[in-house]
Amino acid sequence: MKRAAILGAGFYVPPKVVTNYELEKILDTTDEWISQRTGIKQRHVSSKDEPTSELGVNAALNALKNSNIKKEEIDFVITATVTGDYMWPATANIIVNKLGLNGIPSVDISAACTGFIYALSIARALIVSSLYKKILIIAADEFTKVIDWQDRTTCVLFGDGAGAVILGEANDDESGILSTYLGSDGSKAELLLQAGGGVVYPLSQETLDKKLHFVKMDGKEVYKSAIFKMHEALEIAMKSAGVTAKDIDYFIFHQANKRIIDSIAEKFNVPLEKTIVNIDKYANTSAATIPIALAEAIQQGKIKKGMLLGLSAMGAGFTWGAAILRL
Ligand code: UT7
Repeated sequence: MKRAAILGAGFYVPPKVVTNYELEKILDTTDEWISQRTGIKQRHVSSKDEPTSELGVNAALNALKNSNIKKEEIDFVITATVTGDYMWPATANIIVNKLGLNGIPSVDISAACTGFIYALSIARALIVSSLYKKILIIAADEFTKVIDWQDRTTCVLFGDGAGAVILGEANDDESGILSTYLGSDGSKAELLLQAGGGVVYPLSQETLDKKLHFVKMDGKEVYKSAIFKMHEALEIAMKSAGVTAKDIDYFIFHQANKRIIDSIAEKFNVPLEKTIVNIDKYANTSAATIPIALAEAIQQGKIKKGMLLGLSAMGAGFTWGAAILRL
């Protein structure tokens, strides 16, 4: 059977940085609280002229450059996002236009923080079935535009960014995605959502007054589920790939909270050095955290060709998923 492999990765974050110290000036919060409770020190924040598609295009161009693949070789584009340019059409359509690739199919995947793992799993199926040859996966989110900057329980947690990979047939005997695992549970939808603007709460003065257009989260419940589900998903994916935690060179967990990452590493009994952590610089960029961490670690020379990687994420929906792959 064919194997689908990551042929290259890239990322992009908007230039503007907002530190915890700057938030101290506008909110009842402290750098100490944010750093100790989450591991976040700063986040990148997009301007009004940098929509999600713009971050996505920049990440895609970096992924194309890093993989030595011409954009004309791409035959499908998948964008994982829950903060698209518009309610519809898909941000992937906008990105395809900006890349000058109009004509090829493109679609958005709405799986919040698990969006990249969902996209990877679906793209893998399209590659191994030979339906498509080179799929551009972009995970991009701009939560800073959908959070309430007066709500200290959510606004300190998020940042904007995009990560991208090119998925194609493995060009050696070793590399490729060995397994993926996905799950969801809509009974938990209300624990983390942006309710306003959908058809249940179409935008109106009343929904604006009630701030339904902002992200609402029950942090404690999400925290507990994140540890449980990211651990469980990765365990299942490792089993189906026939590997153990000891075999994995690096774990890339969704960057929502450093304490969540540490707890999962402890459950697997693996040293923290084996986890990729950049939440201090970028905060939670939703679907983009894993591909940003992957692309940055490759750029830093930390993650190298031939390494075995374990990826795992959990997010709104609830959704969760994991993947085991050799670069
Ligand atoms: O990406 C998808 C998933 N997202 C996540 O996985 C996030 C998961 N949740 C979390 O990471 C954590 O639950 C939070 C970081 C959101 C909150 O941490 P916590 O340790 O669960 O804090 P808490 O909600 O129990 O709040 C403790 C205290 C409260 O004060 P009282 O009631 O004890 O007086 C909060 O009001 O901390 C207060 N607090 C803050 N204080 C200063 C909450 N936010 C802040 C803040 N600055 N920004």
